[in-house]
Amino acid sequence: MDHDTNRRTGTSIDRDDPLAELDRALRTRPRTIPPRWLYDDRGSELFDRITRLPEYYPTEAEREILATHSAMIAEVSGATTVIELGSGTSDKTRTLLDAFVVHGEIERFAPLDVSEATLLFAAEVLAERYPDLVIEPVVGDFTRHLARLPSGGTRLVAFLGGTVGNFYTDERRAFLGALADGLVAGDWLLLGVDLIKPIDRIMDAYDDSQGVTDAFIRNALAVINRDLGANFDLGNFEYVPLWDAREHRVDMRLRACDPETAHIAALGLDVVFEAGEELRVEISTKFSPGDIVAELADAGFGDAELLTDAAGDFGLVLTRRT
Ligand SMILES: C[S@@+](CC[C@H](N)C(=O)[O-])C[C@H]1O[C@@H](n2cnc3c(N)ncnc32)[C@H](O)[C@@H]1O
Repeated sequence: MDHDTNRRTGTSIDRDDPLAELDRALRTRPRTIPPRWLYDDRGSELFDRITRLPEYYPTEAEREILATHSAMIAEVSGATTVIELGSGTSDKTRTLLDAFVVHGEIERFAPLDVSEATLLFAAEVLAERYPDLVIEPVVGDFTRHLARLPSGGTRLVAFLGGTVGNFYTDERRAFLGALADGLVAGDWLLLGVDLIKPIDRIMDAYDDSQGVTDAFIRNALAVINRDLGANFDLGNFEYVPLWDAREHRVDMRLRACDPETAHIAALGLDVVFEAGEELRVEISTKFSPGDIVAELADAGFGDAELLTDAAGDFGLVLTRRT
């Protein structure tokens, strides 16, 4: 890709600087922490545990879709470079890569993630499994560093796990637009989206009985304490997952039990919480097929095909830059 997302989209200067973005997010109401602060090595490990929880249906549903349709995706796209955004362990992606290797045209796999240790470990494992592929890990932030991705050939960008649901609506629009700007006509996008379904099933997936999601969300405070010299009292916050019916999203919050003033040295900021005040850490938006296909069309992607698991829980949209 040949451009810098921030310069091209002209989005606010905050995007260039995660600290400025965090500072602003903590001053808004409700106070917010951008999701990238969830993913240090422990956060990545906790997310990996979440994907193996019985309540967390998206991972197995997406795996099922990949098992059924990867050969078709490899054949139809004929991509020579597969790029994966927010790749994490790239565990499910192996099903896709296996099919691309059998198809015979793929030359390169480029995973991009903010979580460096997880990314580099995954890249080592993949290099052993696919000795004939160039494995090109990219440490970076998919909202800021799309320009670091390789160009040339036919590219397929996989963005799996429903991670696109972690963006707020305006961020999602900016992200899809920037992604489309960085691709050329004929490149492909394979986008994983969690679909709207009965709320009980959704909420169980984000409020598991073992408390792993609670630990994952709470970890954002531990990351900020360690990396930015802050003193959030982790024990003073309780995990509160809410369903936002208007926006079709789970809103994962931490609620201060007692009043607290957290000092963040790197920002020179005191964050004053009243008892009961909530801090929004992550959202997970659920989509109707029509809405996500329309959003993709607005961004510059066409010929969308929605692939779902047999239960219709999760969708993979295969679409092409027009
Ligand atoms: C929900 S997990 C999905 C992981 C994997 N793709 C899957 O489907 O299981 C989100 C991944 O995106 C990464 N991530 C989160 N925010 C990011 C950002 N701004 N830039 C790059 N990677 C990010 C995390 O480190 C994590 O690996």
